[in-house]
Amino acid sequence: MMSTGIVSVAYIAAMILFILALSGLSNQETARKGNWYGIAGMVIALLATIFGVVSNNYIELMAALLIGSIIGMLIAKRVQMTEIPELIAILHSLVGLAAIMVGYANFAGASENLTGIDLTIHDIETYIGVLIGAVTLSGSITAYGKLSGRLGSKPLTLPGRHLFNLGLLITAIWLGQQFVAQSAMGSGMLPLVIMIAIALIFGVHMVMAIGGADMPVVISMLNSYSGWAAAATGFMLNNDLLIVIGALVGSSGAILSYIMCKAMNRNFLAVIAGGFGAGASVKVSPANEQAQGEVTTTTVTETAELLNNAKEVMIIPGYGMAVAKAQQTVSELVNKLRAKGINVRFAIHPVAGRMPGQMNVLLAEAKVPYDIVFEMDEVNDDFPQVDVSLVIGANDTVNPSAVDEPNSPIAGMPVIECWNGKTSIVLKRGMATGYAGVQNPLFFKDNTHMLFGDAKTTLTEIIAGL
Ligand code: TAP
Repeated sequence: MMSTGIVSVAYIAAMILFILALSGLSNQETARKGNWYGIAGMVIALLATIFGVVSNNYIELMAALLIGSIIGMLIAKRVQMTEIPELIAILHSLVGLAAIMVGYANFAGASENLTGIDLTIHDIETYIGVLIGAVTLSGSITAYGKLSGRLGSKPLTLPGRHLFNLGLLITAIWLGQQFVAQSAMGSGMLPLVIMIAIALIFGVHMVMAIGGADMPVVISMLNSYSGWAAAATGFMLNNDLLIVIGALVGSSGAILSYIMCKAMNRNFLAVIAGGFGAGASVKVSPANEQAQGEVTTTTVTETAELLNNAKEVMIIPGYGMAVAKAQQTVSELVNKLRAKGINVRFAIHPVAGRMPGQMNVLLAEAKVPYDIVFEMDEVNDDFPQVDVSLVIGANDTVNPSAVDEPNSPIAGMPVIECWNGKTSIVLKRGMATGYAGVQNPLFFKDNTHMLFGDAKTTLTEIIAGL
């Protein structure tokens, strides 16, 4: 067994590596390095815990680690890029489950020697840890269901849902008080179990009430919850490393949620309280429900000609590019256009695709140079000078109704304003709506041409036609 001194040093090294990992992941050029820091930190943390903290049951521990590692490796190998958000959601649910189990074990076993204020603090830690864990568990499973299409993406709006949530919260606080009082007398299991049931219901209800357009915020918020659940587990187990890592995950998830809320014009405090997605629950206006006139279609030949004659091209990728696995073909097109002296740039919406940074990862994988990939805000004012905007499988993120239709479910969300450019060519398979399920007036504008078909096939044909 390692000495406690070595364990402390190893834990400090792991904490530093995790902080370096987070800072590395904040930029695509250093993201790979950031991942390695994270892996190294986790290996050190695991080794120090296994050989320095655990004192018995090694066979069971090793068997569990082996089974867990094999399942993790198989999932990581099989998962598609487009399925990462639901994978993250289901993995968060495991953190919640772990917090419940640790809390239960802690309550059932470890409190025997405690009395007075120590016992009260221990009970409060256990109760809060289990509460956050249960909300994270059921909320994450519901988010998984929504993201994987097993549950509808429409928000569930029960009458008086805020009152219902408030009722659940007050009951949970009252049960907490009962739990602490009963625990001092050697019982307390009943209020703990009822609270778990209430927290599970709250988690499901909270996520069910959120509309499709707000799902990215939910994912990063559940990420934050899972961090706080881990930190609470750290308090229960007296493990400093778990407290620090939990706090890092909890606060970085909360910061990401805040950044996303700003990007989607949602109220951060309303999000944290769980009463959000109100924008998405507004009734869809008739203008949004119906098709809005005729669309103009175009051909591969016409598109190739337009591109050949362009000086400024803006590419706007969206979820459809990921579905079509077209990133490599996009990269080839970019090389071809740049070789002709055409200035090509990318405009990336903060919530394009189905997870933060998805477009950046796909483009980096296809070796698109970083210096031509821009955030939406950096290029949104440049469209009047853009000759051709190629919208590749993007929909909600280029929807003008967010700007000029106050009743739209996505009203107020900043969008990429490609309609201010000379011509927009939209590559998609048909007239299907995007994730938020709303009609897109961009497709009906005079300077928009629809190029129907699978994005990868269409792009291959355009390259051949150039
Ligand atoms: P979306 O609005 O989801 O639209 C994607 C479009 O791609 C669809 O309209 C679809 O139309 C088209 N498409 C699908 N497969 C295609 C293929 N093989 N070839 C060509 N087109 C294809 O995409 P977006 O603009 O990226 O917006 C993202 C949406 O997801 C937002 O509403 C956002 O709030 C939400 N969301 C984002 C995240 C994060 S963090 N990024 C997480 C969850 C949800 P057709 O079927 O007609 O082809």
